[in-house]
Order: sequence, then structure tokens, then C-alpha cells
Amino acid sequence: MSGVVTLIKEDHQKLESVFKKLEKAEPTEIPDLLRQVQELLVPHSKAEEQVVYPAIKSMVPDESSDVDDGLEEHHHVEQTLQELLASDPGAPGVDGLIAAMIGEVRHHVEEEEEQILPSFSKAANNQQLGELGEQFTAAKEQALQSLQRA
Ligand SMILES: [Fe+2]
Ligand SMILES: [Fe+2]
Repeated sequence: MSGVVTLIKEDHQKLESVFKKLEKAEPTEIPDLLRQVQELLVPHSKAEEQVVYPAIKSMVPDESSDVDDGLEEHHHVEQTLQELLASDPGAPGVDGLIAAMIGEVRHHVEEEEEQILPSFSKAANNQQLGELGEQFTAAKEQALQSLQRA
């Protein structure tokens, strides 16, 4: 059974590998890669918001403001992603917007991995991390289904 922190980091790595492709993509490859980003990023963020962030706020109150900042970052990144999905991939400005989105996500991931999740790992026991991992996976699955229905 993988704990929630491991699952979150695995998702971050998957996203990073799509970012690497996106950074050197030709315009014709961009729409498909953006959809891959969307299917990885949106369910991940929703599951963090539903399952992980509330648990962190209650178990590590000192991390509350970092968690609130993280939530804002999720929303901003999703807005940028929506804007990109609606854009012509060859349009001027698209490359810059992609670079900005990737930079923002990397910054956010670093904050989760270096700051928020280590504090949380210290406060939670293995059983809690395991149970949250199951809830995280279920929430992600549901969010992916509603994304695919949309
Ligand atoms: Fe994350
Ligand atoms: Fe996040």
C-alpha cells in the first residue's frame, strides 16, 4: 500500500515528463500534450483539494497558509491551462504561456515536496498516510471521470 505522499510525488513526476515533451513540442503536437497535462493535473489537484489539503490543515495547522496559497496556485494554473486549450497552438504568445504555466506548476510542486508534504509526513502515521492514499486515488478517479464526461 502506497502512502499518499508517494502517490502525489509519482503524479508530479508523470506531469514533469509531459512538460519536458511540451517544452520542445511542434505546434501540431501541442493540443494532445495539453490534454495529457489536463488529465494528469486537474484530477490530481482536485483530489489534493478534497482529501489531502483538509487533512494537512487539521493535522498541521502551521501549514494552513501554505495550503491556502497552494489552492490559489491550482486555480490560477487551471485558468491558464483552459486558456491554452482554447488557443490556436501556433498563435503568438502560446509558447510564452506554456512556459509560464510550466514554471508555475514547478514552483508549486517544489513547495509541496519541500515544505508542505514533509511537515505533513512528520505529523501523520503510516496508517493515516495509507488511508489518505486510498481516498486520494478514489477522488482522482472520480475527477478524471467527470473531466472525461465534460
Ligand atoms: Fe501536487
Ligand atoms: Fe498541488
